[in-house]
Amino acid sequence: MSRIPLIAGNWKMHKTLSATRTLLAELNQAVSDVEGVEVAVAPPFTALAVAAEALRGSAIRVGAQNMHESEEGAFTGEISPVMLTDIGTNFVILGHSERRALFGEDDELVGRKVNTALAHDLVPYLCCGETQQEREANETMSVVSRQLRAGLAGVPADQAAGMVLAYEPVWAIGTGLTATPAQAQEVHASIRALLADRFDDATAQAIRIQYGGSVKPGNAAELMAQPDIDGALVGGASLDAASFAGIVRASGAAR
Ligand code: 13P
Repeated sequence: MSRIPLIAGNWKMHKTLSATRTLLAELNQAVSDVEGVEVAVAPPFTALAVAAEALRGSAIRVGAQNMHESEEGAFTGEISPVMLTDIGTNFVILGHSERRALFGEDDELVGRKVNTALAHDLVPYLCCGETQQEREANETMSVVSRQLRAGLAGVPADQAAGMVLAYEPVWAIGTGLTATPAQAQEVHASIRALLADRFDDATAQAIRIQYGGSVKPGNAAELMAQPDIDGALVGGASLDAASFAGIVRASGAAR
């Protein structure tokens, strides 16, 4: 089964409206001739509508970085799935390690958000990953497995097949430390085995598993050449059109 690589930029808390317009105009141009790679961006909430407008007619997909689990209600400061689809959002990143570590999101909450996203035709990009301490204690797969089993609770196989997972070792996020291709592949293969166990082989083969953590133009090709790495979730390097486009190109060439 061949899975088209998916390169997504998680802009985190960066970019004003004018910076969004500039970056997307540059990016649209920079990747317009690239084939065989799907490209996506997740700007901050304030720039989502402008991004969706700027990318109308483009193949680049637009997503949010988080979402509330309910459709509406008295939840000051939160954004609902209905608001996201209303402005043309295609996907939503859920369970990012920064949400878990800095904003107290637990596995069960992430699972409820995944189900809400699916109910609203938003593609969940479900994130998982271990800390440095957990890796050193040989707990990588027990942590990832716990996060994914809770994150996928109640999700039927036919809906799971359209989802995206992102393996982002916490120690590699924003640190310049990247998992080696072999380290990442080992976890990705274990995740695919977990998916086959949780769903079935065909579903496990259909789900794209991105790697995230200091992906740059210079290391993207060797990561994407691994059989179970189906794309990248890119933080810092997605804030600049040339470096993000460099990752997109390198990924297309590697598959
Ligand atoms: P960096 O690419 O900046 O390490 O961030 C990765 C990430 O957290 C993407 O979601």
